[in-house]
Amino acid sequence: MSQDAERLLAAELAPATHDEMARQAFVSALRRHVMVDLAEAMRERWEQQVAPQFERRHGRPAADGHEVRRAMRTQPIYRFWSVLRYNAQEMTWNSVLPQIERHSPALREAAQAARQRDLGSLRLDPELALPREYTALDIHLMPGNFHAEAGPDDVRQGALYELGTAVFGGGLKLRRRGAVGLSVAHFLRLAYPDFRPARILDLGCTVGANTLPYAEVYPAASVHGIDLSAPQLRFALARAQASGHAVHFSQQNAEQTDFPDGHFDLIVSSFFLHELPTASTRRVLREARRLLAPGGLMLHMELPPAAAVDPYYNFFLDWDAYHNNEPHYAEFRRQDFFSLCEQAGFARARCIQRRIGNWTATDPETFAAIARGEREAPAHGNGASWFVFGAWN
Ligand SMILES: C[S@@+](CC[C@H](N)C(=O)[O-])C[C@H]1O[C@@H](n2cnc3c(N)ncnc32)[C@H](O)[C@@H]1O
Repeated sequence: MSQDAERLLAAELAPATHDEMARQAFVSALRRHVMVDLAEAMRERWEQQVAPQFERRHGRPAADGHEVRRAMRTQPIYRFWSVLRYNAQEMTWNSVLPQIERHSPALREAAQAARQRDLGSLRLDPELALPREYTALDIHLMPGNFHAEAGPDDVRQGALYELGTAVFGGGLKLRRRGAVGLSVAHFLRLAYPDFRPARILDLGCTVGANTLPYAEVYPAASVHGIDLSAPQLRFALARAQASGHAVHFSQQNAEQTDFPDGHFDLIVSSFFLHELPTASTRRVLREARRLLAPGGLMLHMELPPAAAVDPYYNFFLDWDAYHNNEPHYAEFRRQDFFSLCEQAGFARARCIQRRIGNWTATDPETFAAIARGEREAPAHGNGASWFVFGAWN
């Protein structure tokens, strides 16, 4: 669990019982087993048996993730892995739900108190229409999705995402909470030392785990986060305050915000765009272009595009599109990200896409060498590196 969450959900606020801690540790270990050990065994099966069979039958290697999927889906190891992964995903949320339910009054009071404090702000919009494609699914199989609310000041979905993702990544050393925000912010500091954004916006910020690092790395900046979900934002404000940061959160649709033209110098997101229908993604990128000041930067951390990884890894990544209620994931990754930015109004010559290091898993010298382009980032996988794309305005 991240230090921020520990402070917010500390012993007196939402303590886990001994049995809950044991269950959560088990689920983290199970996920590690699925995502590392079994995943390696499954790749070996592909390389040593299934891929050669495919080549004998077709006279060529598999061309894309779909062909690998068709060849793999009858393999017992894939079926076992997939079922276990699906169950580990459900167990992740179930392992923290009783703790959250039991402490929900204390969590609500903490969120209410946060709104009274003069550190950052929260602007909610009860009239905001939530898109049907957003409310129709429990994305990531998280019960209640991001947005469910049982009354005013409810913060449970925020706590569920915070504690659930801590269990989700708890067995994977490279997947620390806030690692993406820290990595992108330090990458920018090192790669573009003269770029000092005064206003920063994080789109689809959820509980703000990856928003806070921008306040840390650029302490003079005014940092903002927007999201559709009120319970995530209530939690985000309390979380930001618990770590001493003034961040301004507001409930808005990233496709159409109420910020003025050219308001921000840096617009970021993490794990966000692939969850939107592709038409929404295009509207979000156009809105980001409208919001950027001249010379500003838009930079999104995302799953790597299909063209950047091999067919097997595409098959592996696209599991979420079929089984984790992320229906746009594969289609999003099949797009050309330079063209997406160009369609949003950015000049192609000003577009960026690359892998950066993971600040929380790399020594600072190596991280800096990768940021400056003197060394290559490790291959993508379980947070060994992050893929970013975007454009300068
Ligand atoms: C996977 S989460 C993003 C995770 C977060 N950025 C992080 O790094 O921890 C996707 C978030 O986007 C929000 N979201 C989805 N559609 C949105 C939209 N059109 N505008 C704003 N937020 C949106 C969801 O409520 C959810 O909190």
